[in-house]
Amino acid sequence: MPPVLDIDQIVKKFGNFTAVDNVSFQVEDGKFFSILGPSGCGKTTLLRIISGFLEPSSGSLRIRGEDMAGIAPNRRPVNLVFQNLALFPMMNVAENIAFGLKRQRCPAREIESRTDAMLERVGLTGYGPKDIAQLSGGQKQRVAIARALVVNPSILLLDEPLGALDLKLREQMKIELKKLQREVGTTFIYITHDQSEALVMSDTVAVMNDGCFEQIDTPRNLYESPASSFVAGFVGEANIFSAFVESQDPELIVRTSTGLVMRATAMQQMEGRECSLFIRPESIILMPDDNLEDLNRFELVVEAILFDGSNTKILAMQGDSEITVALPQNQQFAHIAVGDHINAGVHVDGCKCYSGEMS
Ligand SMILES: Nc1ncnc2c1ncn2[C@@H]1O[C@H](COP(=O)(O)OP(=O)(O)OP(=O)(O)O)[C@@H](O)[C@H]1O
Ligand SMILES: [Mg+2]
Repeated sequence: MPPVLDIDQIVKKFGNFTAVDNVSFQVEDGKFFSILGPSGCGKTTLLRIISGFLEPSSGSLRIRGEDMAGIAPNRRPVNLVFQNLALFPMMNVAENIAFGLKRQRCPAREIESRTDAMLERVGLTGYGPKDIAQLSGGQKQRVAIARALVVNPSILLLDEPLGALDLKLREQMKIELKKLQREVGTTFIYITHDQSEALVMSDTVAVMNDGCFEQIDTPRNLYESPASSFVAGFVGEANIFSAFVESQDPELIVRTSTGLVMRATAMQQMEGRECSLFIRPESIILMPDDNLEDLNRFELVVEAILFDGSNTKILAMQGDSEITVALPQNQQFAHIAVGDHINAGVHVDGCKCYSGEMS
């Protein structure tokens, strides 16, 4: 079986500007694949190329093994969900969902049964006759997805579909979308600049920067073994320091511009002395046992406690370095107060070092 989507060296230029820069990847059938990157990195451009609304400058793309060159958007086995949803306000819910089936000249009875089945699938049984204006934001979202899925596309392309929702609803829809994708088994290609959306929902995430893919990996690997300083900074939270290599043999020792000296792990070949050091807030161990090995040990002075339930952090100083530390939900740490001096440590593999200045 060929992959459902096979992108080979796609380039898209607008004049002198390269919006998509030699991107290649494959997506296996039935997977949830996300493209994660900051605004302007080329995500929508890539999606428009897949859907056929935009011709690539060079490169090729295949869907289920078939070359899509010269194939019009409406002839491709893909469908799109946009950020603004683009529902038809003059049609009711059922008519919106039935739209694509009508266009395919599907028999009326089949349209009705497939529309009803789709309504049930997205949890809107009985909503068919309602006006779009009567729906909540989350319900509109589900109608847009139902409308796109009802024609059984090989691939559903979603361009920041949760962008317009408030935070709480977005959290909820994230989980719903993931469940829905599992149930229907359709391949989803999901574009977002929100790393938590990408990590929570995806089987695989491609991190995009300046038109290029920096890393294609599982959410866990992206978080635990970022391939570049861009990925380390974009995916998850980190304390980031610009630093210099002090020595490399036998082990890497770096000194940050704020004066912190750490034994570190080289995540790539170190070229030159300039480097950047990344330490996740949860990698820092408060009051570590004396017998823990491979630990950089230091003393922190608590500057502030940023209370946020299970996500509470402390802001602390180590010399001139300000460090954010995740506070474990543990009675042992409940008494920590501003001004306290606390022993802390971080394992060598929690100090990840990338060559070159921070971008
Ligand atoms: N038709 C066009 N002509 C010229 N430049 C374009 C065109 N479409 C997009 N661009 C440029 O290509 C770059 C990538 O745009 P794109 O819309 O793909 O970004 P994006 O990653 O989707 O960003 P966002 O997260 O803000 O939606 C941007 O710098 C944009 O200005
Ligand atoms: Mg976009």
